[in-house]
Amino acid sequence: MPERARTSSAHISPSAHYTGYVWYRHRLADPAFVTGFGRFVHKLLWPVTWGARAGFGLDIEALLLQRHLQIDAQLRAAIEQGGVRQVVEIACGLSPRGRRFCTRYPHLQYLEADLPAMAARKRLLLHGEGWLDGRHQVCAVDILAERGNQRLAALFAELDHSQPVVVITEGLVNYFPLALIEGFWSRLAAELRGFSQGIYLTELYPDLHEHPRYRQLRWGVELIGRLTRGSYPLHYRDHAEIVAGFQRCGFDQVQVLDPSADAVSLGLPATRLPGLVRVIQAQV
Ligand SMILES: C[S@@+](CC[C@H](N)C(=O)[O-])C[C@H]1O[C@@H](n2cnc3c(N)ncnc32)[C@H](O)[C@@H]1O
Repeated sequence: MPERARTSSAHISPSAHYTGYVWYRHRLADPAFVTGFGRFVHKLLWPVTWGARAGFGLDIEALLLQRHLQIDAQLRAAIEQGGVRQVVEIACGLSPRGRRFCTRYPHLQYLEADLPAMAARKRLLLHGEGWLDGRHQVCAVDILAERGNQRLAALFAELDHSQPVVVITEGLVNYFPLALIEGFWSRLAAELRGFSQGIYLTELYPDLHEHPRYRQLRWGVELIGRLTRGSYPLHYRDHAEIVAGFQRCGFDQVQVLDPSADAVSLGLPATRLPGLVRVIQAQV
């Protein structure tokens, strides 16, 4: 796609304030990660989230926690069992994961990245708290860029390609049509091939037609689309389509995890409904 015609996705950035506030509410983040806007949107949406829980048994914050904690668990395993020492978190928003993991693993190199305005905000936040240093940095990236200094290749240029790397995206991929996000995944898989080992972790909301709350899920994604002035397409219908999709993009091994099945081991209450979110661990 020519650079000039590139789609802008800056309209998505405000959603990071909401999730940032959710991580704080559940004691995953320091107060420094809270913004007035995040607190305001959380309050504004409270009747909706309360209604979804009381009326349909859909707990939106539990759903967010499932994906966040499952990604944490996969990352911990990659560090502790796989010897990973460098992590790149794309679309980091106001997520506290970089801070939490740098505190827990003093040898870790952690590069957070987001669109320029959000990256600047995150850099200021971390710098203001004295949390940025040589091993914890923030960069600008645009996953849609195929040229220029915000493209993926520029983000990875400074990393040690002789060592394994984990790349994370959270709360990003369902904001884009499948063809666009598969383009990003293909570019990412190609970049990861340049490392001794490359692991990609992301969450994904599939189009689960058979789910007992499918109708409410469609309302929910419609609402997210309206609030972020875009759309929120669901990708792939089942496990087999997810695996095939990631393989088409160049990933050799694809693991599809349902965090609701692991809820108790993630420290979350067991759920009665089948899971709505999947965490994908894809490797080249
Ligand atoms: C819902 S927030 C998720 C933030 C964080 N990962 C979390 O889970 O709390 C979506 C994030 O994607 C970022 N984003 C949107 N378009 C992007 C793009 N083209 N390239 C990189 N990041 C992007 C936004 O700026 C925002 O921080």
